[in-house]
Amino acid sequence: MRSGQIRRIAVNTGGGDAPGLNAVIRAVVIAALSRGWEVLGIHRGYSGLFAPEDGGLIRLDRESVRGITHLGGTILGTSNRGNPFAWPVTTNDGNVVEVDRSADVIDAFDAAGIDALVAIGGDGSLRIAHELSKSGLPVVGVPKTIDNDVERTFFTFGFMTACSIATEAIDRLHSTAESHERVMVIELMGRDAGWISLHSGIAGSADVVLIPEIPFELESVYRKIRDREAHGRHFSIVVVAEGALPKGGHQLTLEAAGGGREEARLGGIGEWLAEKIEKDTGKETRHMVLGHLQRGGGPVAYDRLLALRFGAAAVRCVEMRAFGTMVALQPPRVVAVPMAEAIRERKLVPVDGDLIQTARDLGISLGD
Ligand code: F6P
Repeated sequence: MRSGQIRRIAVNTGGGDAPGLNAVIRAVVIAALSRGWEVLGIHRGYSGLFAPEDGGLIRLDRESVRGITHLGGTILGTSNRGNPFAWPVTTNDGNVVEVDRSADVIDAFDAAGIDALVAIGGDGSLRIAHELSKSGLPVVGVPKTIDNDVERTFFTFGFMTACSIATEAIDRLHSTAESHERVMVIELMGRDAGWISLHSGIAGSADVVLIPEIPFELESVYRKIRDREAHGRHFSIVVVAEGALPKGGHQLTLEAAGGGREEARLGGIGEWLAEKIEKDTGKETRHMVLGHLQRGGGPVAYDRLLALRFGAAAVRCVEMRAFGTMVALQPPRVVAVPMAEAIRERKLVPVDGDLIQTARDLGISLGD
């Protein structure tokens, strides 16, 4: 039974990694130590709880978080197959079935004497944290994802870094596209939200930006390419979000959800689109998938600062016993919001918002 006094907290990272995770961990550890608390890092989401003596639970002291603010990845490891409510177990015949191990997780927290958890994760991990919090675990969430699709926070850390990397890639594609008079299609991450594509597409002066929120028509894409051609611009840059889809069509996937995997793995739309463009317009077209480069490496300064602010704010929430909340950026402040509100739905690009209008005013085709 937890006494109510905070002596020992845990921190974990779940789901896909994002630049800035280590900065959050560092802030959590330093802020907690300064309050006289102990901090345990849980290895690979919740998995470490099942092997605490085997490096699954690591004591995080001041030394263990030195010089990690600028480092990519997470010193704690992560996984997008670690939902305690749908834990993947391989049966004797080699099949993977999902079992509910949430009670074991709560027991493991109790056994380790952990008074509160700071759970750093995206939409999926925050849902898990919320469920655990409803089962009695004192949890504070920290929103992480390059996709920026978590409600109630203006930005998630990692997003600005992904946008910078994507914008640089688009910049680089311009010169080769122009030299060869080609269409270049670049597929970016973001699942069902077009934030990365829209931000980097506008910043990188793309000609076409296709996002999941606005199903596209191929004819509209072709029109933009032909129009540029007619005006002596013999190349075009098309940015497509991995979750974009043609009107009346469906998203393309590389791997289905299930077997411990929370969501289907999206991908393939860039290649599909490039083939269509080349066949139907006669313009030579190449495609590229920027993929995990958007998640790899260290965070840009903005994400570092946001991550540090989030980590410190999460510790203040624990101190105030504001459990079941998530820290959030509501400029200019970092606040705590009910986790239930943050996970209610995904934060998608508002199609009547300023960003979309900016793209239209700049002559960028959105495929509609
Ligand atoms: O949610 C973050 C994200 O990077 C998505 O944009 C992408 O669809 C997904 O993770 C890919 O995850 P992974 O390749 O790690 O399974």
